[in-house]
Amino acid sequence: MRTREPLVDSYGRVHRDLRISVTDRCSLRCTYCMPEDGVPWLPRATMLTTEEIVRLADVAVSMGIEEIRLTGGEPLLRRDLVDVVGGLAGLDPAPEISMTTNAVGLAKNAAALRDAGMTRVNVSLDTLRRDVFITLAKRDRLADTLAGIRAAADAGLVPVKLNTVLMRDINDAEADVVGLLDFALEHGYELRFIEQMPLDAQHGWDRSQMISGEEILDKLRSGHELTPLPDEARGSAPAELFEVDGGPATVGVIASVTMPFCGSCDRVRLTADGMIRNCLFAAGETDLRTPLRDGASDDDLAALLRASITAKLPGHGINQPTFLQPPRPMSAIGG
Ligand code: 5AD
Ligand code: SF4
Repeated sequence: MRTREPLVDSYGRVHRDLRISVTDRCSLRCTYCMPEDGVPWLPRATMLTTEEIVRLADVAVSMGIEEIRLTGGEPLLRRDLVDVVGGLAGLDPAPEISMTTNAVGLAKNAAALRDAGMTRVNVSLDTLRRDVFITLAKRDRLADTLAGIRAAADAGLVPVKLNTVLMRDINDAEADVVGLLDFALEHGYELRFIEQMPLDAQHGWDRSQMISGEEILDKLRSGHELTPLPDEARGSAPAELFEVDGGPATVGVIASVTMPFCGSCDRVRLTADGMIRNCLFAAGETDLRTPLRDGASDDDLAALLRASITAKLPGHGINQPTFLQPPRPMSAIGG
């Protein structure tokens, strides 16, 4: 085991969470992410191989990264995903490995992923209604998603967390929002609602259309009693947590836009083509792929990663008039 100085930025934030996007391809076309025709995919030759991903993760782990989240696009579309997980699980010290997925195709992979070393999953689930799913994700795959969620729980990839993004007049009806919470309560899943952020490839985000955390809570309160948990329950996690009907079950609200949590951000992202992004909304990136392929040493790569974190800005700036959406869409950044 090698150890390096931890990844502390100039605001004192210690980075422990690395999100690795393993592909920018996806099996769905969620409106808040991608247009129906998709986006120009990253060229194959620029995508990191499994060995390259594990090598970069090894450097990151030596700098204090404790948790690795695999993201996409849709991680399950990467054919060697189980090998990626196995490689990451073999690092020393071993990071905790989780994944953000749409769960389409998870039913047949959940057990293998667990056996390779994955411990939990976050599943995007925006509706329980087939017609709404098709409107929102442009594909008729709700049954596959639900089967994947069940398989994840059966395989012990728990707690299963469900992420929901509400879109006005599409999936925001009070009964449907409460219905999602009832579904989560019934099965023991942890549901979190995420405010829609300006990350869609089509640049269609409109603040006035966004369903805010406050509005989400109002809708939930039409069916359940919610009691805020103290902030300590949150740590560096972005979700504000509420006990439902006296607990112990909770529901979370991730109000990235109206209540930014940048001050406690401990995340750094690696894209499928080997770029470090120090923020979801960063305007710039640090290229690790080129030096990696040109024979850089671990120390060289560590120095590049550290420089990127040092340059991290205090916040995402969505609420500033000068805000510019990053050129890279969510599908090529990861969650
Ligand atoms: N705003 C908020 N959340 C988003 N996600 C994808 N795009 C957006 C967006 N524009 C969520 C997905 C998924 C995770 C990767 O991020 O629902 O759960
Ligand atoms: Fe795919 Fe996730 Fe984007 Fe939906 S949000 S299109 S599931 S990458």
